[in-house]
Amino acid sequence: MKKINKKIYFIFLFPLLLSAYDAERGKKLYFSAKCNKCHDSTSFTNKNRKVKNYKQLTNQVEACRYSTNADWFDSDRDDVVHYLNKEFYKFNTEK
Ligand code: HEC
Repeated sequence: MKKINKKIYFIFLFPLLLSAYDAERGKKLYFSAKCNKCHDSTSFTNKNRKVKNYKQLTNQVEACRYSTNADWFDSDRDDVVHYLNKEFYKFNTEK
């Protein structure tokens, strides 16, 4: 009986774990990949910024990820996207 309960918890918690991006980790990755060599916070907050939604933000981070040769997994990229969004862009993540 106990075993079954554990399984059920796991099934319900697993999607939560997957969607819980880690902004702190994203911040560390951002600096360790030297993104700040070309960007400071004004790149992400000024009125002329190009990124208009969460999807574009993901795409742009993806593009810059390759230009820096950052050795990231996709989940690392997602943490960085989440960090930038939480800190600067503040887009609705539902869309
Ligand atoms: C060699 C310089 C350089 C480095 C290093 C760099 N970027 Fe960029 N980044 C750019 C340029 C240039 C643009 C503008 C692209 C454009 O206008 O099409 C940009 C745009 C962006 C934007 C969109 C800004 C906006 O207008 O809203 C984001 C977000 C971004 N970079 C994230 C990152 C991240 C994360 C990293 C680290 C992996 C990184 N960048 C590293 C040059 C760089």
